[in-house]
Amino acid sequence: APGRPNASDLLVWYDRHRRVLPWRALPGERPDPYRVWLSEVMLQQTTIAAVKPYFSKFLELFPDVAALAAAAEERVMSAWAGLGYYSRARNLHACARAVAALGAFPNTEEGLRKLPGIGAYTAGAIAAIAFDRPAAAVDGNVERVMTRLFAIETTLPAARPEIRALTLALVPRDRPGDFAQAVMDLGATICTPKRPACALCPWMAPCVARAEGLQETFPRKIKK
Ligand code: ADE
Repeated sequence: APGRPNASDLLVWYDRHRRVLPWRALPGERPDPYRVWLSEVMLQQTTIAAVKPYFSKFLELFPDVAALAAAAEERVMSAWAGLGYYSRARNLHACARAVAALGAFPNTEEGLRKLPGIGAYTAGAIAAIAFDRPAAAVDGNVERVMTRLFAIETTLPAARPEIRALTLALVPRDRPGDFAQAVMDLGATICTPKRPACALCPWMAPCVARAEGLQETFPRKIKK
């Protein structure tokens, strides 16, 4: 039977293969919570390729959360035009104002959860990436990785609490932010929906789905 997966095998892989993205801090640098938040909101329903030019435009127009909070609503909405899901832009602006009123981003998942436009995924991602809190950031990519790794038979969305608990149990105390981004990178580049590159995966050995040759059959879908 496959052994238990561990964070350090994933982090060794991440240190070698991490994607360079404009909102990511370089190794040894401190991440900017404003950039982490802005990128996570933009990436909620949009690809990295589509987000990149908007992310740089926003940083030019609104270099920090105070600038975004002070901006007129129409300027924020017109800067967002083309990205879609416009409630995100309205929530972004409301969130900037709330953070400006607080003086800084809350540095806990619980505090972040109370802000406009920040749900479970985004709160976990910001807490882990910006503040190195041991939090789980479970999006579709992470769901795919975890359902395969543990061969979770429960269909989505019912499997979410179990996926969250299993993810949280793997988070290393010393590098929660890198771990969160490493699982995202693994899901985006190796553990892909079709024809995952299992031979290159740092978690091939402990992957239960892979051991059974069933990797493409997870996450389980409801039969129609
Ligand atoms: N998708 C959502 N957040 C991401 C991040 N921080 N890095 C890469 N892909 C992501």
